[in-house]
Amino acid sequence: MIAETPVLQVEDLHAHYGKSHVLHGVSFEVRPHEVVGLIGRNGSGRSTTLKAIMGLVPPTSGRVMLQGRPLAGRRPYEIARAGIAYVPEEREVFVNLTVDENLRMGEQPAAEGAPSWTPAQMFDYFPRLKERRNTLAGSLSGGEQQMLTICRSLLGNPRVLLIDEPTEGLAPRIVAAVSDCIQDIHRRGVSVVLVEQKLTIALRVSTRMCVMGQGRIVREGAPGDIAGNEALLAEWLAV
Ligand SMILES: Nc1ncnc2c1ncn2[C@@H]1O[C@H](COP(=O)(O)OP(=O)(O)O)[C@@H](O)[C@H]1O
Ligand SMILES: [Mg+2]
Repeated sequence: MIAETPVLQVEDLHAHYGKSHVLHGVSFEVRPHEVVGLIGRNGSGRSTTLKAIMGLVPPTSGRVMLQGRPLAGRRPYEIARAGIAYVPEEREVFVNLTVDENLRMGEQPAAEGAPSWTPAQMFDYFPRLKERRNTLAGSLSGGEQQMLTICRSLLGNPRVLLIDEPTEGLAPRIVAAVSDCIQDIHRRGVSVVLVEQKLTIALRVSTRMCVMGQGRIVREGAPGDIAGNEALLAEWLAV
């Protein structure tokens, strides 16, 4: 059997903030039709891993490959154009543009092998955004800004979506809408790397879990291995 080429390969990635060595050889891969749940304690390096993949924190060594092609030396916007969308923890909306205008800012041709999306689909996920389509993004609630950031990223028609703590600080009803949306994105063929503090959500949405500790991946397994197994989870997260 010939194994399918991973969509994203991260190999022995190191990164620094100034002199502080934060990523110590992160390696993992994301195959087609996977949602990889990246979990770990605060400060373990999950956000930096996503930023290093995007080139926002330039890796000091190691490599990232998208569909078998190395991304070394590429700028963040080039990496986005190549097919990796990134939704940072700090919801990034253009505050002086309307919801519609923000969505249009995200549009780009589909990456190779990626499904393509329309604003109408975004409004199906989040009807609230349709109601507010002519509102300036700066006056949206935190939850609405999160929905808008996710939708704007999807309209770039990515092959892979990297998403950092998307449900942080959201009301339970919006948490459910966001997690349903991520599951649907995955069903339509976008691979996802999900950093999620809420374990119930991470376990529900992910198809595979990677645990970070001290700047590297220390464990890997199926959500079913840890769902309901508090002792194992505590051991995994103790690194
Ligand atoms: N901009 C920064 N400058 C310096 N150190 C940082 C910066 N961002 C994060 N760090 C440090 O890098 C380590 C990993 O942080 P981070 O990737 O944000 O972890 P996580 O997302 O898992 O909580 C932590 O020790 C954190 O304090
Ligand atoms: Mg973080």
